[in-house]
Amino acid sequence: MRTIVITGGTDGLGRALALHHLSRGDRVIAVGSTPAKGRALLHDAARRHPSAADRAAFHQADLTSAAATRRLAATLRHTHPRIDALVLCAQRYRLLGPRHLTPEGLEHNFALAYLSRFLLSHDLRAALEAAPRPVIMNVATPGVPLGRIHWDDLQLTRGYSGTTATLQSFRANDLLGAAFAATHPRTPVRYITYNPGVVATGMPDHLPQPLRTLTRAAFRLIAAPPDTAIAPMCRLLDDPPAHPFTAYDRTRPLPLTRRAFDPEAALRLHRATRDLLDTLTPQEP
Ligand SMILES: NC(=O)c1ccc[n+]([C@@H]2O[C@H](COP(=O)([O-])OP(=O)(O)OC[C@H]3O[C@@H](n4cnc5c(N)ncnc54)[C@H](OP(=O)(O)O)[C@@H]3O)[C@@H](O)[C@H]2O)c1
Repeated sequence: MRTIVITGGTDGLGRALALHHLSRGDRVIAVGSTPAKGRALLHDAARRHPSAADRAAFHQADLTSAAATRRLAATLRHTHPRIDALVLCAQRYRLLGPRHLTPEGLEHNFALAYLSRFLLSHDLRAALEAAPRPVIMNVATPGVPLGRIHWDDLQLTRGYSGTTATLQSFRANDLLGAAFAATHPRTPVRYITYNPGVVATGMPDHLPQPLRTLTRAAFRLIAAPPDTAIAPMCRLLDDPPAHPFTAYDRTRPLPLTRRAFDPEAALRLHRATRDLLDTLTPQEP
């Protein structure tokens, strides 16, 4: 039985993937910050597939916290020494409003959308390497030519905007995949950075007005339903590419020669992230 860990597995794309894999007989561990959403997922899974009750689990974790993310990884390594797939979907956009810091003093978008993915990718590598065809899918926006890494101010202390921070986290995830493959040249883990296109999830529910109404209206016109959008993702998770690092815009592989995946920039961000983690004071549980 394959074991699939899905952050953001209680809503949107992550939830659709969780229910799909449970229907297929896999074990699924969904991670989210809201226990009620976790309970709803488990209830829905058991209702749809009675056999899924024993194969579905929910872990509550606030992935804006590096300490909580590390605790989650430690727990998962202990409970599941073999993990076949890690799918990174947890996200909460803060496109507007003032700069928001986590209790560890990190900018929110950086912490949730990038740093938690960095930590889980690296901290679960050994458990993934115990599986026959391990894969990490980082669900982000590769192929979108917007945003950049603010090398001299990763926490965006100057000239902050939520959009700038969100776009920086997207570009950081492009580099995360490239750096993962470069720093672990012999790993069997296949790292896929994946853009699902526009998908009708509950993402707009958390946006401020009038952006919420506008995004919902746009979603009604152009967004794919999650059950449709996950089809190419499932194919990649079932049959990971041979290359250690790949990037896809839905079904289209993206050339890795693009600046977004520049190997030097990837290693530079990797080092900067490790340096940043070294400065964090461990938080009490
Ligand atoms: N939807 C799109 O059109 C679209 C387009 C391009 C890329 N993507 C990418 O696809 C991925 C999934 O997006 P989606 O639209 O499916 O998202 P979504 O429906 O908004 O779901 C987000 C998930 O993340 C979890 N989450 C949020 N904050 C968290 C935290 N602090 N700690 C732990 N979990 C947290 C949520 O659970 P809780 O609420 O319980 O925390 C929920 O399960 C994201 O990475 C997104 O950037 C989506």
